[in-house]
Amino acid sequence: MAFDPAFLDELRARLPIASVVGRRTKLARSGRNWKACCPFHGEKTPSFYVYDDHFHCFGCGVHGDVISFVMQSEGRSFPEAVEQLAGEAGLEMPRQDPRSEARSREAQSIGDVLEAAQKHYHQALFRPEGRQALDYLRGRSLNDETIVRFGLGWAGEGRGALLSALRSSGITAGQLVQAGLMRGDESGAPRGDLFFSRVMFPIRDRRGKIISFGGRTLGDAQPKYVNGPETPLFSKRRALYNLDGARAALRDPSCDLIVVEGYMDVIALAQAGFEGAVAPLGTAMGTEQLELLWREASHPVLCLDGDAAGARAALRVAELALPLLQPERSLRFCRLDPGDDPDSLIRRDGPQAMRRILDSATPLVEELYAQMSVGVGTDSPEQRAALRKRLEAAAGLIADRDLASEYRRALLDRYFAASRRQSPRRGFSGSPSRPARPAVRRSRSEGGEESGALERLRLLTALVLSHPALLGEVEDHYGRMALPQPLDDLRDAVLDWFATLTPGCDPDAATLLAALDREGMGDTARLLVAGRAGLRQSGEQGGLFAMEPIQQWWHFYGLVNLPDFVREVERDMHAALADPALEGLPEALLGRLRALERLRRGESQDDET
Ligand code: UTP
Ligand code: MN
Repeated sequence: MAFDPAFLDELRARLPIASVVGRRTKLARSGRNWKACCPFHGEKTPSFYVYDDHFHCFGCGVHGDVISFVMQSEGRSFPEAVEQLAGEAGLEMPRQDPRSEARSREAQSIGDVLEAAQKHYHQALFRPEGRQALDYLRGRSLNDETIVRFGLGWAGEGRGALLSALRSSGITAGQLVQAGLMRGDESGAPRGDLFFSRVMFPIRDRRGKIISFGGRTLGDAQPKYVNGPETPLFSKRRALYNLDGARAALRDPSCDLIVVEGYMDVIALAQAGFEGAVAPLGTAMGTEQLELLWREASHPVLCLDGDAAGARAALRVAELALPLLQPERSLRFCRLDPGDDPDSLIRRDGPQAMRRILDSATPLVEELYAQMSVGVGTDSPEQRAALRKRLEAAAGLIADRDLASEYRRALLDRYFAASRRQSPRRGFSGSPSRPARPAVRRSRSEGGEESGALERLRLLTALVLSHPALLGEVEDHYGRMALPQPLDDLRDAVLDWFATLTPGCDPDAATLLAALDREGMGDTARLLVAGRAGLRQSGEQGGLFAMEPIQQWWHFYGLVNLPDFVREVERDMHAALADPALEGLPEALLGRLRALERLRRGESQDDET
């Protein structure tokens, strides 16, 4: 039977090959990998090596992945080995329904269509119609070798030009819609090219197969980049730009795995000799992308912009990584100057400047402390206790117990060292003259507090469901909150849906609901929305419902966890004020400040009930 390639990938990802081999043969560490005496030929000194995703014997030459290991060592057929391993991994075998075969045929054909489109775009770049684009790329200091290596291209005229070009290869409009290259209407009928007048960046999976494209305008038109939509082959959250190239480069042990923000940064880095660079695709890094990184390197370096958003992103990734950390799985962080990205830095100051930045990368624990303590006042015992609690809570997120206690100690060491250094002058705080006071009074009973908190989480979810455009501003915060079920699953579905939207289009509640219906979560969503409407009618929340949805969102968000909210707003304020290019605070930040002020004044009817 033909297995769905995604299922086999999942199987391989869940079963580290060392754990399977280790059950039959004694393994010893060898750097990042393992070695053993080869189970397939008699030997006394080990020449059998186990890497993240394959094994190789330098004695007898056997070679393969986890599935072929079981086939060869236990004499099983491919389907038998898969079935046995699926059992070990706790994965259900895909049912042999014709639909999954159809899906895998579909994925195959989408892959072929994407390869054909890439060839077409790439050739167009070197034809007269692509002249302007080629000049643009060369003007950005890319040499032709780099342009060819990354397979860059040019999507010229829209209105079906791609279809006309590919029709002779037997490719249909329907296939182009499926592959995410043409827009389709509700019924899937084609409605024009998704990419036109854009430089095309093919996006490949870790094995080098094209799964989608990003496209950049030549000028300042918005949006600057468009990425392909989610398809059976492409999920933004499970892909990284240039993962295939970086993987190949990482065979050289001195090569760093570097995570940067943009396509052009990856390419500029590669051209300058840093070939292990990857980038997420216009969304914030998620856990699935962290897992992808750790399959290739134990300490990837995140290289973030030196602005407020970069600082925010650093903390977000650090917090995301904590529960997943292991002794051999961590992160490093380095920071560029505000206004720079790796591309501009290399062009201005050369590769040595980039090398220096990479060499200055700090370990995760350092970055975590820096981000958690920045902009947090430590004058009063209350503030110091709050910071200390947060640091301990961060360490508590680490699942590996030994590592958690190491982190706890390392974070507290820094905390105590900083307290000792603390000068009598006040640190940064929004308004130095105001005495610190608890902003929100505690509810009386434990139970009351708990159900109040749950109610707020439900309201936050309902607000997003009724006004999905909020996600433009709150996506990160919403994505990071701890939510109980079913709110947690619902959020996953909402964010998945949001990630599929074309940038610039207006997220709409009815389409969101339709998407949730398809995931079987429409009824839960409707109940939440109705619950909020009920509260509004009962007038229980006083004047809150008269506020703009975004103000309501920040209000409830602040109520759910005021210390975090204070910290985030102050940190962003701090970063914004440190930005020399700043002309007035951004509207979104002002909105959060207003919500914070309101909470600090205790203007929360919610709290009185
Ligand atoms: P940047 O705006 O930092 O772009 O976006 P860049 O990579 O430096 O691009 P150049 O140098 O101006 O060409 C970083 C990444 O965010 C995503 C893209 O993946 C981009 O590489 N992005 C950005 C979008 O998806 N859409 C946009 O409109 C802008
Ligand atoms: Mn750039």
